[in-house]
Amino acid sequence: MPYISQSFIDDLPNQIDIVDLINKRVPLKKSGSDYRAPCPFHGGKNRNFAVNAHKQFYHCFKCGESGGAISFIQKFDNLDFVEAIETIATECGLTIEYDSNSTPVDPRIERYRALSKKVGEFYMSQLRNSPAKAKAVDYAKSRGLSGEIAKRFELGFATPSNKDLLLHFKDNEQELADLKTLGLVKEGQYGDYDFFRDRLMFPIHNAKGNIIAFGGRAFDKEVKAKYLNSSESVIFSKSRELYGLYHARKNSRSMDYMLVVEGYMDVVALHQAGITKVVATLGTATSTEHLQILIRTTNVVVFCFDGDEAGRSAAWKALQNSLSVIKAGATFKFLFLPDGEDPDSLVKKESAKAFEKRISKAQTLSQFLFDHLQAEVDFNTIEGKTLFLEKATRLIKLVNYKAYQQQLMQGLAQVVDQNIDQVRSIAEQQAPQAQDSSAVYTDIDVDYEHLDEIDMSSFSDSRHYPPVRKPPASQVNMKALMSKMITLLLNYPTLADSTTEVRVRAIENSQVLLELVRSAQMNEDISQSELIKPFQDKQGVYNRLQQLCTLEPRLSEVQARDEFLAILTAIENQQKSERIKSSIHHAHTLKDQQKIMKGILKAKRKA
Ligand code: CTP
Ligand code: MN
Repeated sequence: MPYISQSFIDDLPNQIDIVDLINKRVPLKKSGSDYRAPCPFHGGKNRNFAVNAHKQFYHCFKCGESGGAISFIQKFDNLDFVEAIETIATECGLTIEYDSNSTPVDPRIERYRALSKKVGEFYMSQLRNSPAKAKAVDYAKSRGLSGEIAKRFELGFATPSNKDLLLHFKDNEQELADLKTLGLVKEGQYGDYDFFRDRLMFPIHNAKGNIIAFGGRAFDKEVKAKYLNSSESVIFSKSRELYGLYHARKNSRSMDYMLVVEGYMDVVALHQAGITKVVATLGTATSTEHLQILIRTTNVVVFCFDGDEAGRSAAWKALQNSLSVIKAGATFKFLFLPDGEDPDSLVKKESAKAFEKRISKAQTLSQFLFDHLQAEVDFNTIEGKTLFLEKATRLIKLVNYKAYQQQLMQGLAQVVDQNIDQVRSIAEQQAPQAQDSSAVYTDIDVDYEHLDEIDMSSFSDSRHYPPVRKPPASQVNMKALMSKMITLLLNYPTLADSTTEVRVRAIENSQVLLELVRSAQMNEDISQSELIKPFQDKQGVYNRLQQLCTLEPRLSEVQARDEFLAILTAIENQQKSERIKSSIHHAHTLKDQQKIMKGILKAKRKA
């Protein structure tokens, strides 16, 4: 992607009028040498916000927000730096100058993409030519897929054999090694084998149309994992890719909306019905990165979820993640399907037209926000209404797009039938939550006060755990950290990936967490009760895990991941320093101790 030239950026303030630019968003009044308005960033009634045309600068005397035109647009419209410049250029009729700077490319990327393409072609050819193809073809037919749509999505077939793919690439060592890196071939006790067997194959394309990964649908109901995905790699990250984005762009005339559904099959079935503006996440919740890609693609993102409990909770997660991402010109909507239906089943039952009508009638974000919170409280009591106000303002404060935040506050005031200033003052009284997730996390923190009473060995799952009279502070802390990680994982199984597995394995006494990480990786849709089931016959552990299941952190997936990784790092550091302390302690001579100290210092210097 080309970069905007530095000289253009430097010269921008001279080319525009900041008063004009801001006045379009916040009506300004001349006052002495400045222009004044109530501050759009902290609110309030007084005209604390000053814009100076001469200095091309704005400043709020109350909250201290200040900066130039670009920073104002970034904050007010919630845009990144480049988007802000583009917005200003459009509004002021300037043509952006770019540098033709190319970014360095990882040489593996080309290799992996080329290989993935070949693998895709191989699976496709198997659907046409394999002697075992009848099963796959019958399955595709039973799901109502036409040949044309199978071709559009380049669907393929992984045969029941465990070596077909392997044999196809047997003569090229580099390709064989790469197949393992991409998770398409696995190393087993009895030699290498194909990861995907006996499945209908869905290649996953990036936005440009390169195949970067695969999803495989089992044919039989009895198979444990209905869907499998190939591994994350330098070319594939689930939280950044959307299934069907390439096909949506290629087959749609406009991008006036984009539907976000849950499954591969939903995307494919909707295409077949003629609804092509549709993508699916890859078995994960909608991440902030997904949302950013979506609002770069369209102005109206419509989340489509099943009408059941799971669907509503997935929608609520999507809403929470959306709040900070919304910017000028972007709208998020929510479409709930009747209980028991998914887009695939519904579009087959009713016409495409009826389905499109549902899309056009999707709920707005604010409707869903207020409805959902109202249903959580007893709105007819003063106490319920107070709680409602608390919850709503907390969420609205996450909105970075100030104009929208103000509208939501206004809407909230109407819902509770109160004056907007009263609602604002409630918001201002609230303790800040922002980056400090502990505020969102109170449920869990409360429980940690009682952690000392819990049997310390319950997480090591080791019968030889030494009897500890009074556990040292660091161990109590470790226990608390471990509980927090387990709670997070139970609530967000998608936190588990191969990297976390490796790190968790290296931690002492982490057997329970490690086992949970492994199960969660095998099936991201796994329920909490399924996750903890393997521990059923270990009473102490099982009871504690059940307790942890009831703690529900109100975090977005991104916050949860940050928290999880931060704790993991903290534990790693703590164990490292424990190990060093103990090795110093166990050194027999002063000389040995000095040697260890020297080693530590050397390592520190290197780092
Ligand atoms: N998924 C997964 N692993 C599973 C189940 C689901 O990765 N064991 C992901 C897949 O991306 C799938 C999506 O979650 O497309 C939605 O799952 P679900 O609604 O259960 O499946 P459907 O798409 O309805 O699949 P199908 O119609 O084939 O049963
Ligand atoms: Mn389905």
